[in-house]
Amino acid sequence: MFSAQTYTDRRQRLKKEVGQGLILLLGNDEVGMNYRDNTLRFRQDSTFLYFFGLDKPGLIAIIDTETDTEIIFGSEPTLDDIVWSGPQPALAELAARVGVAQVNSPNSVSQLLKTARDSGRTVHYLPPYRQANVCKLHEWTGVSLGQIKEKASEVLIRAVVGQRSVKSDEEILQLEQAVNITGEMHLAAMQNTREGMYEYEVVGHIQGAALSRGGDLAYPIIFSTNGQTLHNHFHGNVMESGCLTLGDFGAESAMHYAGDITRTFPVDKKFTSKQREIYDIVLEMEMQSIAALAPGVLYRDVHVAANRIMLDGLKQLGIVSGDVDEMTQLGVGGLFMPHGLGHSIGLDVHDMEDLGENYVGYRDGLERSTQLGLRSLRLAKELQAGNTLTVEPGIYFIPELIDKLRAEGQFTDFVNYQKLADYRDFGGVRIEDNCLVNNDGGRVLGTPIPKTINEIETVRSL
Ligand code: GLY
Ligand code: MN
Repeated sequence: MFSAQTYTDRRQRLKKEVGQGLILLLGNDEVGMNYRDNTLRFRQDSTFLYFFGLDKPGLIAIIDTETDTEIIFGSEPTLDDIVWSGPQPALAELAARVGVAQVNSPNSVSQLLKTARDSGRTVHYLPPYRQANVCKLHEWTGVSLGQIKEKASEVLIRAVVGQRSVKSDEEILQLEQAVNITGEMHLAAMQNTREGMYEYEVVGHIQGAALSRGGDLAYPIIFSTNGQTLHNHFHGNVMESGCLTLGDFGAESAMHYAGDITRTFPVDKKFTSKQREIYDIVLEMEMQSIAALAPGVLYRDVHVAANRIMLDGLKQLGIVSGDVDEMTQLGVGGLFMPHGLGHSIGLDVHDMEDLGENYVGYRDGLERSTQLGLRSLRLAKELQAGNTLTVEPGIYFIPELIDKLRAEGQFTDFVNYQKLADYRDFGGVRIEDNCLVNNDGGRVLGTPIPKTINEIETVRSL
């Protein structure tokens, strides 16, 4: 946990920016996996963590922007709780750790909010993503279940996004910690992959590397020889010689900051020449994109420039032909990279996605494209010093997508569909790092993780 002052300062700023009414922030509850008491791993809501720091289920907070009152609501531990789960501090003691003086029972939330609403005061809340919180908000605000999300407070969303988008030095240290654990996870994958093993055998090493360093998973592990499936969570293939493995996984630090790194390496100790050719293009896309990071740079432009590098490289391999600028403009690259170049990262792996992707990555006057690839870009707007983001270009050969576009006659002037037949079993390559935008440009967070072909082959040969 950060110091009480950090949380107090964050709330002061939030109060000032929201300006009027009550701010209601909901923590998360335990969720039963297959029955109530057999719970999924508890994960606190990230905005609650950001302003109140307490990593415990069943908490709610209200900030009165006009009277300067802050209250945390939660249940006091019962003797039964202590018998089954061990001694726990009283709520007032927890609240004091984050600079909050007032606590109350969750049963009093309803009346407090009713009194506020009856006197015409606004209750600001964020869009909920868990059904339990949808129901609580419905009960407390009187808004119908179907309208709960759309009635979330835009003023509050914008204030939270503005604050959480620029990371403080202490947050950057946390992100570096997450990336460093993530680096160990990737090393574990590179060191333990052998021809003939099941993917899940390596997944065990990857998850173990996070847990044994005090971390956990920031999102479900992607580790597959079918890397052309962008989010492939199936781990049951036998890894065969001649295949690439794509691993996209990351640790969450003890304070829940996320790492999100991707590496691609061969099941064999060395890349084939065909794998090298594609890998080199993706590496160039990644390095050039990182070099382009700076305050004021439109991240959409970096995405488009990466596409240009890709099309230029694929042209040299005879996979596409024609004018690269024209292809870039038409979005031919979407066939090979149907996702965006990156996204914000912080307490969430896709930071603040629960608040609405466009609030985080777009702005008025910068609309989302409808083009394949570009439409999936989560972060498009101008970068700011203190932003943390992923840079994650890729090239994939997705048979179903290739067949569909070919059947529709799309990009036939540019794409050599006959040549693409040679790549149907290739899979995919993605390379991803986590970066900080600073006043000098940008830098990769954490200790370097093997990335060049030489570095990867060295680890694979040990
Ligand atoms: N790590 C998965 C993603 O960025 O979508
Ligand atoms: Mn990512």
